[in-house]
Amino acid sequence: MTAIERVGVVGTGTMGGGLVQVCALAGADVRVVASGRAGAERAERRLAQSLDRQWAKGRITEAERNAAVARVSFGTDLKSLADRQFVLESITESLPAKQDVFRVLDEVVEDPAAVLASNTSSIPIASLGSVTRDPGRVVGAHFFNPVPVMPLVEIIGSLCTSAAASDRAEEFVTRTLGKQVIRVGDRPGFMVNALLVPFLFSAVRMLDAGVADAEDVDRGMTLGCGHPMGPLALLDLIGLDVIVAVGEAMYAESRDPACAPPTLLLRMVECGLTGRKSGRGFHTYP
Ligand SMILES: NC(=O)c1ccc[n+]([C@@H]2O[C@H](COP(=O)([O-])OP(=O)(O)OC[C@H]3O[C@@H](n4cnc5c(N)ncnc54)[C@H](O)[C@@H]3O)[C@@H](O)[C@H]2O)c1
Repeated sequence: MTAIERVGVVGTGTMGGGLVQVCALAGADVRVVASGRAGAERAERRLAQSLDRQWAKGRITEAERNAAVARVSFGTDLKSLADRQFVLESITESLPAKQDVFRVLDEVVEDPAAVLASNTSSIPIASLGSVTRDPGRVVGAHFFNPVPVMPLVEIIGSLCTSAAASDRAEEFVTRTLGKQVIRVGDRPGFMVNALLVPFLFSAVRMLDAGVADAEDVDRGMTLGCGHPMGPLALLDLIGLDVIVAVGEAMYAESRDPACAPPTLLLRMVECGLTGRKSGRGFHTYP
C-alpha cells in the first residue's frame, strides 16, 4: 500500500486545528475544509500563530514552520478532497451533520483504498459507514485534546470496516504522526470515554450537591490521585457543549444514567458557559 501523503481535514474547531498542525508538521499535504469562508480564514490565521509559538519556543525551525504553512490549503468545498488518501472528519459532534459529510465524502473521494476517518468521541462508526456505499473504508480515529501534545489515538473499526482500512489508519497515525494507538470496539464511548465520561459527570453532580467547591473538586483529584488536571478543569478544556453532545450520544445507545449529562452542565451550556473557549466554565479564563 502506498504511503499516505495527501490528507484532508474537515472542521476547524479545537480538534481540527490541532489535526491540521500535526499532519502538516509530519510532512503531509493537507487540504482543510471549513464550514464557511470566515472559518477558513480564522483557521489559517490560527495555524500560523500556533506554528509561530512553536518556533519562538525553539521546538521547530523557521524552515520547518514555513514548510508546514506551505503544505496546507484552506477552503470550504468537500469536492476539493477528491484526490485525498486519508480524510479526517472533525466537525461538531452531531450525527446528522457528520452523516451529511460522510455522504459527500463517499461520493467525492476517488481512491477506493482511501481511508475516511472520523474523530468522533461517541457516535457509532457503523452509523457513519451506513450512509456510504463502501462502509469498509470508514474508520474511527479518535485523537485527544490538545492534539499536538496527547500521544494517544483510538482506532475504531465498525463491523463493516475493512481490516485494510483500520491497518492503514494505524500505520498513518503511528508512523507518520508519531502517535500511539489502541484498537477498540465500536461501542458507546469507545474505550477512554466509556471510563472518563461517567467520572467527569460524577464530579459535576458532586459540585451541584455541594460536596465541595470547584477548586476543591479539582484539587482533590490532582493532589490526592495524581491526575494532571482536575475533572472540572478537564471539562472546561474539552468544551462543555462538546461533552454534553458526547454524553447524549452515549446515553442514547447505552441507557446508562451515568452517561446522561447532569442538569448543571446543561444549564451552563444554555448560558454560553462552554469552558475555556468562551472564557468561562467551571473556572474563568481571562
Ligand atoms: N474537544 C475535545 O476535547 C475533543 C476530543 C476528542 C475528540 N473530539 C471530537 O472532535 C470533533 C470536533 O470537536 P471540537 O472540540 O473540535 O469542536 P468545536 O466545536 O471546537 O469545532 C467544531 C467545528 O466544526 C465546524 N463544522 C460544523 N459543521 C461543519 C461542516 N459541515 N463542515 C465543516 N466544518 C463544520 C464548526 O464550524 C466548528 O469550527 C467532535 O466530533 C468531538 O467529539 C473532541
